[in-house]
Amino acid sequence: MSVKSSSVLLTGATGAVGSELLRRLAARKETTVNALVRRGSTRQPDIAGILRDLEPVARVVVLEGELRDGPTLGLAEADLNALARETTHIVHCGGSTSFTLPLSEARALNVCGTRAILDFARRCDNLQCVALFSTVYVSGKRSGGFSEDDFGDAGMGFVNSYEQSKAEMEEIVRNAMHDLPVLLLRLSTVAGDSNTGMVRGFNAIHHAIRLVYNGLAPMIPGDPDECVDIVSSDFVADAALHLIDHGDTGVFHLASGAESSSSLADLIGATVDSLVRFRPAWRKRAIEKPLIVDLDTYDLFVRSVEEAGNEVMRDATRSISTFAYQLAHPKLFDTARTRAALDGSRIAPGRALEFYPRVVKYCLDSSWGTRPC
Ligand SMILES: NC(=O)c1ccc[n+]([C@@H]2O[C@H](COP(=O)([O-])OP(=O)(O)OC[C@H]3O[C@@H](n4cnc5c(N)ncnc54)[C@H](OP(=O)(O)O)[C@@H]3O)[C@@H](O)[C@H]2O)c1
Repeated sequence: MSVKSSSVLLTGATGAVGSELLRRLAARKETTVNALVRRGSTRQPDIAGILRDLEPVARVVVLEGELRDGPTLGLAEADLNALARETTHIVHCGGSTSFTLPLSEARALNVCGTRAILDFARRCDNLQCVALFSTVYVSGKRSGGFSEDDFGDAGMGFVNSYEQSKAEMEEIVRNAMHDLPVLLLRLSTVAGDSNTGMVRGFNAIHHAIRLVYNGLAPMIPGDPDECVDIVSSDFVADAALHLIDHGDTGVFHLASGAESSSSLADLIGATVDSLVRFRPAWRKRAIEKPLIVDLDTYDLFVRSVEEAGNEVMRDATRSISTFAYQLAHPKLFDTARTRAALDGSRIAPGRALEFYPRVVKYCLDSSWGTRPC
């Protein structure tokens, strides 16, 4: 059954992924989109902006709710009952993507929020699919291959509270797979639109580009030849909706995998090349390309920055360390099941190095989202 002629509960519609899905769902006939938006969110006007630009065909209703409120989703009982009666699909993009929250706060949103969505899903008599977004980094500090059948960190630990909260979330999702039509979508890192470079949500990779631009990332831990997995936002949204439309269930990696990933050295090279190409004056600042170093050398660098007392460099190094340590645990994300499911659809990740320079340009042109472009 297709999402057409359906009623979709969409969470996280103001976010990087959810806003892409809202755009696509709003363009569908015979569809109702109930967008659960965080009560008090400053980004509510973004939804009005999306709908104004699109002239939606679907019926789009904004519901103010709260994922941390448990099974009520922050809605009045009567509204919740009505929503449960009509919902055919749940697309859950809401949550925290911060790498720096205390674990308890990350859990409150990512674990408890997902549990609330699953409880709600069990009340929906007409439910066909509950699509839940996760990350390939639930693999934590594992190294090597990570398949769509693998779960968790295998006892290796996590680089940050975000990864851990998503892995804990997956434990409850895994149990729900026994009684609900669960589609678990593990994303790698969403860079931006493959055609325009547009970024709808700035994350670690954009932050890293800014630190390189400002000369605040002289060293990165890792191996020059390791794969870095980034995907475009249009691939993620198109692939997710394709899988939802086709009634797929189970775990899927929306990642570039071995075929489309870039090496760490090439990605850093492409960052510097793009900065020079799109901001020729940047070359005059004579900022060195970040060095790729082993973990011991990086740890030494972090300690010396902490001791040196340069606050700007210290803050930059602390922020990059919340995710850069992941590079010290090289992984390859297997995408076999996703490729098979997308076969013949013309939806594919696209080679990272082809669209990535456009993303760097968008970061520069928009000054990392602080001015329109
Ligand atoms: N973007 C990536 O690179 C990436 C990579 C791997 C996995 N993922 C996964 O994909 C999903 C979507 O990520 P994203 O990048 O779109 O995240 P995002 O841009 O940070 O958006 C998060 C969304 O959740 C909403 N939200 C936050 N707290 C809430 C609350 N208490 N109640 C209701 N809604 C709340 C936010 O609303 P406000 O706008 O009001 O804050 C926003 O709409 C997440 O599950 C994430 O883990 C993303």
